Amino acid sequence: MIKPFKAGITGTGSVLPDKKLTNFQLESIVETSDEWIVKRTGIRERRIIDNGMPLSELAAEASKRAIADAGIAADDIELIVATTITPDYLTPSLACQVQKQIGAKKAAAFDMNAACTGFIYALQISKQFIENGTYKNILIVSAEALSRVTDFNDRKTCVLFGDGAGAVILSRVDDDTGIGPAIIGACGEDGAVLTVPCFFATQEDLSLRSEGKKQVIWMDGSEVFTFASRIMGESTKNVLEDAGLTINDIQYIIPHQANMRILQNAARRLDVPMEKIYTNLEYTGNISSASVPVCLDEAAKKGFLKKGDKLILVAFGGGLTYGAALLTWTK
Ligand code: COA
Repeated sequence: MIKPFKAGITGTGSVLPDKKLTNFQLESIVETSDEWIVKRTGIRERRIIDNGMPLSELAAEASKRAIADAGIAADDIELIVATTITPDYLTPSLACQVQKQIGAKKAAAFDMNAACTGFIYALQISKQFIENGTYKNILIVSAEALSRVTDFNDRKTCVLFGDGAGAVILSRVDDDTGIGPAIIGACGEDGAVLTVPCFFATQEDLSLRSEGKKQVIWMDGSEVFTFASRIMGESTKNVLEDAGLTINDIQYIIPHQANMRILQNAARRLDVPMEKIYTNLEYTGNISSASVPVCLDEAAKKGFLKKGDKLILVAFGGGLTYGAALLTWTK
């Protein structure tokens, strides 16, 4: 049998918008308090994109940083996969807009939507192209402007979300590092617990939202909470089993950042100390598919990761979707 090539992450980059929205500022928008938000979610502030700024600019900047970090040229990129649920346009895709802004003229480009699990889906799909020898360098960029679909009359959701972008370069690697077993999955039958209508909305969709607004998030928070707490542990265990590893072999878990209590529940189920779980939601909030690559970039730039370290990347989100991957750090 021909040995497949391996796909590793050889560069990372991320950007958070400059503008902060603190819990104290939210106190003057909805009936809430910094104390409630911190206690129930762990979030203190989030970053919000300026009204006039296209998301593609944030995505392109994160991409440029990842390209520079990988030490390649934009011309070396053969595929751009963008993940987002808040694109500037349905067409051209965010990936095509990024291609234009970074000048990656030789790349194919498309968007995909698996909500907050988007980055893990993109990783699992993109790594196949490296492993089967089709491409050598792929840019994955996950960018979200959730403030655009946040209902600032709904205190149950508006305190949770933020904006940001994270990018990675996936390249062929010749050593034992790179992406190992990964799983992606979906529970479409439970999709109604977290929705953002687009061109169509049922009467029920509209009745759930303040002032009959259409394109805003509605969520049954406790249903999502229960799903998330369970699926993070299960997905992690499944990947470890596929890899023939135990949780003790893992240096860091880099999870989707939705709620500190979800992460604490997952840590308990996996029997790992919180020190092994990377968190940044205190100052980012939930930035959907951008959350894992932003964390990965931060952890790398802070010097937390060294070559050969084994990481679990794990996420869940609207759909409902979930996914996890084993990553042995390449750099
Ligand atoms: N400020 C103050 N009070 C609030 C509030 C806020 N921002 N949001 C909700 N409350 C109130 C509720 O109205 C409720 O009051 P009531 O008992 O008088 O009706 C009370 O707090 C408890 O609400 P509940 O929904 O049970 O709170 P919770 O502890 O479950 O926390 C979430 C709510 C949304 C923080 C939590 O369910 C969650 O994080 N869910 C997962 C969300 C998620 O991860 N989504 C993204 C997936 S990718």
